[in-house]
Amino acid sequence: MAVPIFIDCDPGHDDMMAIMLAVAHPQLELIGISTVAGNQTGERTFDNAGRILTLLNRTDIPLARGADAPLCRKLVTAPAFHGTSGLDGAELPSSAVPERAESAIALMARAILENPGPVVLVPTGPLTNVAMALRAHPEIADSIERIVLMGGGVFDSNTTPAAEFNIFVDPEAAAAVFAGGVPITMVGLDATNKAVLDYDQIAQIEAMGGPVSRVVAPLMRFFSGANEELFGINGAPIHDALAVAAVVAPDLLVTQDVYVAVETQGDLTRGQTVADLYGITGLAPNASVALGVDRGRFIAMMIDAIRRLDETVVA
Ligand code: BDR
Ligand code: CA
Repeated sequence: MAVPIFIDCDPGHDDMMAIMLAVAHPQLELIGISTVAGNQTGERTFDNAGRILTLLNRTDIPLARGADAPLCRKLVTAPAFHGTSGLDGAELPSSAVPERAESAIALMARAILENPGPVVLVPTGPLTNVAMALRAHPEIADSIERIVLMGGGVFDSNTTPAAEFNIFVDPEAAAAVFAGGVPITMVGLDATNKAVLDYDQIAQIEAMGGPVSRVVAPLMRFFSGANEELFGINGAPIHDALAVAAVVAPDLLVTQDVYVAVETQGDLTRGQTVADLYGITGLAPNASVALGVDRGRFIAMMIDAIRRLDETVVA
């Protein structure tokens, strides 16, 4: 039976890859999507999610717009990586997703509670909506099997020398989620910076020439260009898609169960995910932290998903 997942995201190039994998993978059922401000403004990330679902002919998947700003800070966006649209490089159709009165938090709670069994929650943006949903509807915690989130890093960072973008943008929300008692898999930069779609693989996608691959190839060229320029990475690290992949194939990751706390105060360390690798605090682990990835198997899964979408989406 397919695993029901709910994605909370801020599309974003790699968020788009995460949604595509969730839609295409036969062992996953995407029961809803909420958007949050992060890579771009709340307005843009919501519109981008609508465009993605329209491209994929899946406007039936419930989509709701969430927080426009972090819990108690000013929004920081990431135009250097995702452009002014949030999805620069891609030519996407206008969103044909029907308007919905329900907020992201209401949709997230309802989708989780109405599902007959536990749901895996996959946040791929700042954790604002997730923290708000857990606070407003604490009863959902029992119906969430696990939170598999993209964020943080034990040794690696990308926004300050100490912090990864999603956690940096809303550290208070992240701190609440890590302290919230729901089991967490932290798919952070130690794994996702190695989950790279290289230039040959982008060319391979381009050569597929289908309705989805035609959009994905230039999108990934833009994203790899930004990552090469800023971090010297040879290709596109598709961070968020790895979190979705880890739901169906947890053994793609090398993990360690540890206690993780999020720094909210430090001038230099705001948004750092402080991981107690050696059990120094004596506190029980609250997260399974990804430290490595089987890149070959993950990228094969992603390319297979794009192939499936090319076959199922009508051009
Ligand atoms: C994360 O930050 C965003 O820019 C990406 O979409 C990803 O979720 C990587 O640090
Ligand atoms: Ca993201």
